[in-house]
Formats: sequence, structure tokens, C-alpha cells
Amino acid sequence: MQLKQNVSLKPYNTFGIDVSAEYFTEVNDIFDLSEITELPQQKRILGGGSNILLTHQVSGLVVHNKLKGITIEKEDDNHIWLNVQAGEVWHDLVLYAINKGLGGIENLALIPGTVGASPMQNIGAYGVEVKDTIESVTFWYWKEKVFLTYSNRDCAFGYRDSIFKTQLKEKAFITSVVYKLSKKPKYNISYGAVEQEVESMGVKELSVKAIAYAVMNIRTSKLPDPKKIGNAGSFFKNPTITKKHFKLLCTRYQSIPSYPISEDMVKIPAGWLIERSGWKGYKKGDIGVHAKQALVLVNYGNAKGTEIWKLSSEILKSVKEQFNIELEREVQVW
Ligand code: EPU
Repeated sequence: MQLKQNVSLKPYNTFGIDVSAEYFTEVNDIFDLSEITELPQQKRILGGGSNILLTHQVSGLVVHNKLKGITIEKEDDNHIWLNVQAGEVWHDLVLYAINKGLGGIENLALIPGTVGASPMQNIGAYGVEVKDTIESVTFWYWKEKVFLTYSNRDCAFGYRDSIFKTQLKEKAFITSVVYKLSKKPKYNISYGAVEQEVESMGVKELSVKAIAYAVMNIRTSKLPDPKKIGNAGSFFKNPTITKKHFKLLCTRYQSIPSYPISEDMVKIPAGWLIERSGWKGYKKGDIGVHAKQALVLVNYGNAKGTEIWKLSSEILKSVKEQFNIELEREVQVW
């Protein structure tokens, strides 16, 4: 294990924010973990850095997960259980699965970040959430210096949420995830845009590969590539409001999109609310709101995390004033 001091985190976060970590180390092997545990510094865990906004220099130790490897844990006639190390790039796992015709994560193609981040925020897109394929998550529990394995149920998955973002925040270093993928996939193209894209691609017979490529086409047409424009995907969660509140809004805005959640609650796309508050395409200096998806805040160059934070606060205020809805940030803020 190599301990470095004053390391710029710019290459380690997709927003491309340039702040330094007081101390920095990488985990290339699970045996590094007990050594790191003995260090006195406060520890923070960094995976792909795709869901994080860095607002100041990071004191203590940043631990970067570089654990790699995909192995088949078991299989039967219908399923295969893949044990994947947390430092693997998420999209590489999707490519691995679609090339083998394994179903379950094809709708989650091109989501930036690592395998370790997938249970953390229960990544989701185009009608699928990763929780539906996760069998278990193994992590190093700093306090007790042990590896623990949590079943799907133990992970307390919710919309962009899990126990790793709440009770176990900063306490667990995810080392591997077991995904149960299907050898006889059930395709999910219920999300309108996917169905349309599959059609316009001229696909005759559905396959996990065709769906993944459709999703990749949609994402690249709407979402900025973090390699070119710094961003962390959706900056806010889609809010849930009461039906009563929704009906009231409908009297003023007829075209408001919504998804029913329960008998009394509906979910509203935050992107629509932000667009209607006039922020879509906003740009000032190096910060902005993406012109094709208002849910994504962007760094056009050398933005500071605090500037993006301030912009997000102004957006929160506008949406609250106009719709009486409190948006919640989806990204982790350091
Ligand atoms: N919309 C607007 N203006 C915008 C953006 C969206 O009016 O600027 C409207 C669209 O017209 C559509 C609705 O909002 O009616 C939904 O838009 P979209 O399909 O783009 O999805 P979303 O709800 O904005 C969520 C996820 C995305 C995921 C997409 C597709 C959250 C916070 N975001 O966005 O996830 O890719 O659905 O499933 O749930 C991410 O988490 O980083 C992410 C990109």
C-alpha cells in the first residue's frame, strides 16, 4: 500500500473538480484494507467518482477502490451468478453481460461509475433498477475490521438509495457484488424512448445487445459525456408529491409529466420542473445546466464545486417558489 500526500482529485471525479486530498491511497488487493484500517486518518471512499460534488479540499484519507475481476460464482439452467469486484467499471460489466447474452442490466448501459457504486445509490435507468439483479454485497467494515456480506434485503434498497448511503455511510468499503443475471432474459422496453429507439434501429428480434445499444444511443443523444463536459448525471432526485398537490399543479400546467407511485403519491421529473423554472441551458462562466436534460448540472472547464453547489441552491429555490416542491440533491457532497 502506498500513501500519498496532497493528491489532486480532478482525475477521480466526473465533475472534473480540482481539489486535493490530504492523503490518498489505492486498494488493489483486499489485503490492503487491514493495513489502511490501522492508519489514524479519517477515511473516505472513492469509487468511480461519478456521483460526487467536491466543494473543498478533502482532509483525512481518500481511499480509491481499484479491485478488479469478474468470476462466475454459480449457474443453473436459467441464471448465472457473477461475482464482480467493486473497482470494475460498470459499463464494462454491462458489455461483458450483453456479449454473453445475459439479461438484467442491459437497460443500465453507459451509466458512469464503478460496480461498487451500483448498490450504493441503486443505479437505475429506463425502467430498471440494479437492485433487481443484486444477490448480495460484500464490504469491509472498518470499525470491526471484518468482511460482511449483506443479502439484497439487508441492503434496504430504495429509489437511488441504500443502507450504504444512510446507516453505513463512510463505514463500509464495498469490495464485491454478486449479480444474478438471466440466461433467458425478459426484455424491458416499457420506457417509451427505448421502444422507439429499438424500432428506429430496425431491430427485427429483440436481444439484450439490441436494448443496450438503444439505451446507449438515447443516453449519448441526451446526456453529456463526462470525458468532454464535467457532470455527475442527475444532480437531483425526481420528487414524489401527493396527488392533491399534483391536481393543484395540473390546474396551472396541463402538460406536467408524472408517474404514479401509490394511491396517494406521484413522481414528477425534476428535469421538467427545472426546465419550467427557466434554467435549462443556463450558462455562467464555467457552470451550467445541460441544454438537453435540465437535471444535469455541468462544469464546462474549471468550475469550483462551491459554484455548482450555489447554482443547485438557486435551482432549489426557484422550483420551491414556482411549484412548492422541495428538490433533493442526488449527488453526494464532500
Ligand atoms: N424532461 C423535461 N425537461 C428536461 C428533462 C426531462 O421536460 O430537461 C421531461 C421529459 O420530457 C420526460 C420526463 O421529464 O417527460 C423524463 O425525462 P427522462 O426520460 O430524461 O428521465 P428523468 O426522469 O429526467 C431519470 C433518471 C436518469 C435516467 C432516466 C432514464 C433520476 C434522478 N434520473 O431521469 O438517471 O437515465 O430517468 O431512465 O431518476 C442518473 O441517475 O444520473 C440518471 C441520468
